[in-house]
Amino acid sequence: MKKKTPVASTAKKAAPAPLQPFDKYLYYLNSVQSPDENMAFLRTIYLDQRGVVPPGLTLREDFCGTFANSCSWVKLGPSYVAHGIDLDPEPIAYGREHYLPELPAEARARVHITEGDVLESPLAKCDLAAALNFSFCFFRERAVLKRYFTRVFESLNEGGVFVLDVMGGPFYQETNEHELELDEPTPFSYFLEQESFDPITCEARFHIHFKRKGEPKRKKVFSYTFRMWALPELRDLLLECGFKSVDCYWEGTLDDGEGNGIWSRMKHGEDCDSWLAYLAATR
Ligand SMILES: C[S@@+](CC[C@H](N)C(=O)[O-])C[C@H]1O[C@@H](n2cnc3c(N)ncnc32)[C@H](O)[C@@H]1O
Repeated sequence: MKKKTPVASTAKKAAPAPLQPFDKYLYYLNSVQSPDENMAFLRTIYLDQRGVVPPGLTLREDFCGTFANSCSWVKLGPSYVAHGIDLDPEPIAYGREHYLPELPAEARARVHITEGDVLESPLAKCDLAAALNFSFCFFRERAVLKRYFTRVFESLNEGGVFVLDVMGGPFYQETNEHELELDEPTPFSYFLEQESFDPITCEARFHIHFKRKGEPKRKKVFSYTFRMWALPELRDLLLECGFKSVDCYWEGTLDDGEGNGIWSRMKHGEDCDSWLAYLAATR
């Protein structure tokens, strides 16, 4: 649920093209994903953790959905391999139809997708495992999250790194709705609505809505119930599962208090309304 800066344009606009049938994954990609940037960032984290990046690295993208990230990963070099796993056949089929064909045949052969549950299915061995867009927050009980983290630990090659993104701050402890206006693929608004927050369980219900210009708002296109795990809870659990070290990558701040899009390894963060951080746990 990363934010993107809307593109302002002063150019004279041509008559708008007729809208294509609504494609929820295309609008999701344009609202919350930046696969090429995210995969380059994962590689930077690996380098920062290990001090060196070998010529080829194997990524496993857990909760891969349409596996747009895996398709970007294999573009990093001819020895880069990606394994994706997701339990829902629908986004996997979408990725096979829309993203895989965009890759050259040679790169396509390095993308391996499994339909399965990260808690049950065999997990491919890898150098880097990633759980992005807060998907591990589907696991709302500590024992279940521990089972997942232990499986990730066991699936990593010696020295391998596990990266997860985490969001938090007081903003996520109450109901709210946030709108972002975007221009691609057609002018539209992305809405992230937080319907609830339960202070006893730390569970929060989120909905993603979209509104294309000239159309009614499409409500609840995606919905998730997440546990809002705190960074130290996650760090302690990862260490308990055997990881040697856990580092937090925290975003720098501009003069106006907004994030600057640069994450670096930090021991302490500053108090802010909402934040997005990355944890890197090394085996
Ligand atoms: C929020 S989407 C994230 C998609 C993608 N990782 C991204 O960065 O946008 C969550 C995905 O996790 C999948 N998922 C949920 N529980 C899962 C589980 N236990 N094992 C595998 N996939 C799961 C869902 O099917 C869904 O596609």
